[in-house]
Amino acid sequence: MKTNYTELDRRVLWHPFTQHTEWNAYDPLVIEDADGFELIDTEGNRYLDGVSSLWCNVHGHNHPKIVSAMKSQLDRVTHSTLLGLTHVPAIELANKLVQMTPNPLKRVFFTDAGATAVEAALRIAFQYWQQIGKTEKTNFVSLDEAYHGDTIGSVSLGFSEPFHRGYQPLTFSVHKIPPPFFCSPIDGYRRIKPNELEDAARRSEKKLEILLESHAKTIAAVFIEPLCQGAAGILPQPPSYLKRIRELCTEHNVLLVCDEVATGFGRTGSNFAVEQAEISPDLMCLAKGLTGGTVPVAATLATEKIFETFQGSYSSYRALFHGHTYGGNPLGCAAALANLEVYEEEKTLLNAQKIASTLTAALKQQIEPLEHVGPIRQVGLMVGFDILRHPENKEPYSPDDRVAHQAVMHARKEGVIIRPLGDTMVLMPAPAMPEDLIIKLVKSTAEAVKRATSEAK
Ligand SMILES: Cc1ncc(COP(=O)(O)O)c(C=O)c1O
Repeated sequence: MKTNYTELDRRVLWHPFTQHTEWNAYDPLVIEDADGFELIDTEGNRYLDGVSSLWCNVHGHNHPKIVSAMKSQLDRVTHSTLLGLTHVPAIELANKLVQMTPNPLKRVFFTDAGATAVEAALRIAFQYWQQIGKTEKTNFVSLDEAYHGDTIGSVSLGFSEPFHRGYQPLTFSVHKIPPPFFCSPIDGYRRIKPNELEDAARRSEKKLEILLESHAKTIAAVFIEPLCQGAAGILPQPPSYLKRIRELCTEHNVLLVCDEVATGFGRTGSNFAVEQAEISPDLMCLAKGLTGGTVPVAATLATEKIFETFQGSYSSYRALFHGHTYGGNPLGCAAALANLEVYEEEKTLLNAQKIASTLTAALKQQIEPLEHVGPIRQVGLMVGFDILRHPENKEPYSPDDRVAHQAVMHARKEGVIIRPLGDTMVLMPAPAMPEDLIIKLVKSTAEAVKRATSEAK
């Protein structure tokens, strides 16, 4: 008898970020297969993967070279630990990442998720100052609405009232800086226009400057999603902003941690977002696209200056007593190495830059004219726009209208998978996606938004 996966799912699974009352009201897509940039369900229906399977996929699914590298690693060793042992794929991948990232980043600490990469950065930044005698540096700074993952340390950095209401007793408090989008004097962050962004960035920088002038003595690090805050709703920052944040951190003796979990590997139009600001962070977090969206591997990169302070005798307890069982898993490292080889051989970055322009033109033509769409925000292949009842006066739909969710459901009928953030529609195509699929993605999204807004009250 054929298994009824929908029924079984409803009985046994607990989905992340999902209200199950709503989940049970719809028949879920049960994905069974993938082919290139498409996901295939149990009925054999094909869907264009419009959000790179949660912002991870780089070269399409089942890229033959990545699959073959994984198969050959499976035949050798699938898992061995980095605690007290080492292995070839982790050494090679660490070496590759050191070569690819800004020069001062020389050490790679492996974990298995974006959140754990951030958590490791928190621990390293904290311990670094303790070890050089600046024991009062125990606080952190992050941007309003930042998202750095869902472990308690990263939730502390990304504390968000609607999602983490009531969690204060578990989290530590962090200094918050309004990002450029929250510093627009005119319309508020959702309707900021591109030409206002530079001015808004200056206001945000000023707020950090004032904070650091008074509190730098107690601040260990500033955490930032460089160039674009993803889960906040795709909120861009000009590269000059990141440059200034770097300057302020250096000036005030505070570490800069760049969380490139979402922005890394071509997504913003450069290998890493920091390149566009010509800066180097003290710590950098990578995950998602690192393995091309195949298996979970994450990395926290550090400068040698930071690493050096962790040296000493065993009884100095300067080691980083931190790690995860599967951190730097050999299968994952082999997948990441193959992904990075394909990234270079197939000139994925060039394709990402080309399709980002295609995306800009298609969005202008198909999405911008729609009646219920606010200004479009785009950084490379990261796109967000809000669906609003009245874009002129920013009036949103009621949350219970679930208008973006309805648009997502319509997009599925068009053969496209997307996932919104509240009523912000998000498009996040894979950096290697061909142009014709970018056009299909935007066309289908426009159609879906039109249908959802015409049905909404
Ligand atoms: C910037 C950023 N940091 C961290 C994370 C957390 O990554 P993970 O879900 O792999 O823990 C995300 C996930 O979306 C992210 O966008």
